Amino acid sequence: MATKSAISDLAFLGGPPYFSEPLHVGQPNLVEPDQFRTRINEILDRRWFTNDGTCVQEFEQRIAQYLGVAHCVAICNGTVALEILIRALGLTGEVIVPSFTFVATAHALQWQGITPVFCDIDPSTHNLNPDQIPSLITSRTSAILGVHVWGRPCDVDALGRLGEQHGLDVLFDAAHAFGCSQGGQMIGSNGRAEVFSFHATKFVNAIEGGAITTNDAQLADQLRLMRNFGFSGYDQVESVGTNGKMNEFSAAMGLTCLDSLQTLLEVNHRNDKLYRGFLSDIPGVSLIDYPATERHNRQYIVLEIDADTVGLSRDQLQKLLTAENVLARRYFYPGCHRMEPYRSLYPDAGRSLRVTEALADRVLLLPTGTCIGHDQIESVGEILSFCIDHALEIRRLL
Ligand SMILES: Cc1ncc(COP(=O)(O)O)c(C=O)c1O
Repeated sequence: MATKSAISDLAFLGGPPYFSEPLHVGQPNLVEPDQFRTRINEILDRRWFTNDGTCVQEFEQRIAQYLGVAHCVAICNGTVALEILIRALGLTGEVIVPSFTFVATAHALQWQGITPVFCDIDPSTHNLNPDQIPSLITSRTSAILGVHVWGRPCDVDALGRLGEQHGLDVLFDAAHAFGCSQGGQMIGSNGRAEVFSFHATKFVNAIEGGAITTNDAQLADQLRLMRNFGFSGYDQVESVGTNGKMNEFSAAMGLTCLDSLQTLLEVNHRNDKLYRGFLSDIPGVSLIDYPATERHNRQYIVLEIDADTVGLSRDQLQKLLTAENVLARRYFYPGCHRMEPYRSLYPDAGRSLRVTEALADRVLLLPTGTCIGHDQIESVGEILSFCIDHALEIRRLL
């Protein structure tokens, strides 16, 4: 069935929305709700809801095993995990970080009184450009914080070398990268430590959740103390800490997702392939590539829109899709450096972030995951195609 035959059929121009229910980016995946219910009942029976419970311990063990890393410390969410790691490493002064990331990466630093120094990215990977880093290093720099954006690995070797040369810690925000590999090794062992998010929108979700993974036993002990107010025993407090504990219900959801990991991977890979098929002939719309030799979760369908070729801007396309109930999203628009407090604190940051600024105006994410299938993906492709075929007429009416 043709999705739209005349531009007056477009919902933005008065027609009915193609989809009666919204298609979301990041709708939570839950393949086996009954397994989750069983775990919840077991937790209720045990009456042990938090504080290093059975589910949290199992979640940590299974993550460490899957990633091939010695230690996994589960945390209540990825942002607090970043904050705890930053404190545990004793970072101070300035930390080099991309602006093209979710704002939590920058906030975690600023929250600890550390200045995020925004570094531009490589347009082909959307990750930190190592060549840009040396000129940003000052006597106050204490670390480089890379982000594996879309689960595509940072150039961990180059960042590691820079860290060694300049005496800086290197750590990673791996919020997008659970189930992805780098050089054949699962992401989780790079740098001093890596931080995952298990937020409801993520590939594996724990409703809200995070984890820090590391091969450094001493650091792992320190992280465990810090996430539990600094307690080493019932009455003994060793140092300042916070409440970063993951609760049992979150871990139960995380475990249930881990049980379905293979299905989640297959669904995401199927959707990615379908989108590539349906979008391949649309000029000006490109779907980002993933390294063919690495394992990847395909959690994000990331388009780059070339407005000159398409004849419509990314924002105009987003509006047209949203009206059809395809809730496509701009990530990480407008870039951390253009958000408060960074925009006011570092008003000149954008001057050296040309790639970041250009990309923040091009990227559009489409829905994927278990809530969307072949026919819906085909229809999203048809709507996009239709809009672009009629770009000139549409632009006159917008
Ligand atoms: C790149 C990145 N870093 C950090 C976070 C923060 O994680 P959380 O939402 O679990 O606090 C997120 C996601 O939400 C993210 O996408």
